Amino acid sequence: MKAIAVFPAGKEVRLIEKEEPQLVKPAEVKLRILEVGICGTDREIVAFQYGSGPAGSDHLVIGHEALGVVVETGPAVARVKPGDLVVPMVRRPCPHEFCKACRSDRQDFCYSGDFTERGIKARHGFMTECVVEDERYVVPVPGELREVAVLVEPLTIAEKALSQYRVVQQRLPWEIRHSPDDDLRHTAVVLGAGPVGLLGSMALVASGFKTYVYSRGPASDPKASLVESIGATYVATQNASIERLARKVGNIDLVYEAAGASRAAFELMKVLGTNGVFVFTGVPGRKAPVELDTDLIMRHLVLKNQLVFGTVNAGRDSYEAAIRDLGVFMQHWPDAVRSLITGRHPIEAYREPLLGKPRGIKNVIALHGSHG
Ligand code: BGC
Repeated sequence: MKAIAVFPAGKEVRLIEKEEPQLVKPAEVKLRILEVGICGTDREIVAFQYGSGPAGSDHLVIGHEALGVVVETGPAVARVKPGDLVVPMVRRPCPHEFCKACRSDRQDFCYSGDFTERGIKARHGFMTECVVEDERYVVPVPGELREVAVLVEPLTIAEKALSQYRVVQQRLPWEIRHSPDDDLRHTAVVLGAGPVGLLGSMALVASGFKTYVYSRGPASDPKASLVESIGATYVATQNASIERLARKVGNIDLVYEAAGASRAAFELMKVLGTNGVFVFTGVPGRKAPVELDTDLIMRHLVLKNQLVFGTVNAGRDSYEAAIRDLGVFMQHWPDAVRSLITGRHPIEAYREPLLGKPRGIKNVIALHGSHG
């Protein structure tokens, strides 16, 4: 079967042939992969800036945003059956007894750092024709979401962020009420209009936030009309300084950072509102240090009861929430959701979407089916 792999020693990215995997353990399922999304992490891996292959392997099969169909199940499999659509999870637990997170099936909070991630860290990924997986790590998807379910994994990032936001904001004893009345609605600013930013904006709008997307593209960018079509407001960085953005928004209750640009993020932190929460999801490359008004930021953190957290990966609950929410988005904004997928490419044509200039929003490798 075909697979896309990186070979770090020779700094090569190649389409390779591999043996098709077979079921070994009773609780395993075999999936035929239908689609695999390409994200910034993949682009870093193929640039040899991130990721690692399994121990003893000279290569890593990439791909972690996948949609598959179950084709075979072991005798102990109870949750899925052949023909079911599923999204496989990315992270697998570390082996250490002391890691309470991994021992509680919450490897997204792993303490040891010895977790593995399919297609990213020490485990082959999904950009291939078939994979075998423990049924614990596949999440069923309703058939009607077939055309957009490749977006589930990037949406889990927003779902995990939002679920933590709800938990931490329980510190406000009057509790958060999302009301259709504008004045009582919580406001969110999303930094960045890539797939994670746009999916996050949909999740925020769907859960009642008055949502602003602050991004580099001009107001004429198609992403801006996409943002407006879901009921959020697009603010182009070139048209509005952060002070102007803050005046427009009022008290910023939540910043959802999805750009991976640290300078812009910390500038935005200066205008986070009273009792506000700032969530980082981007992983910036290492660039030169930047100067920052740390006194101002620290004063605000303290005097305005602010909270800053980072979030990575996602647990099963966030996958289930993402699948539910994607169904909601498709009811409200089917065209906007579909337009997040810029292009579908056959596996043989991987080079341009993976190694070429980033184009559009989400590019997808489509196996076993139609592309275009
Ligand atoms: C993936 C996460 C992963 C993270 C760090 C992201 O692109 O979506 O699942 O944990 O990279 O490797």
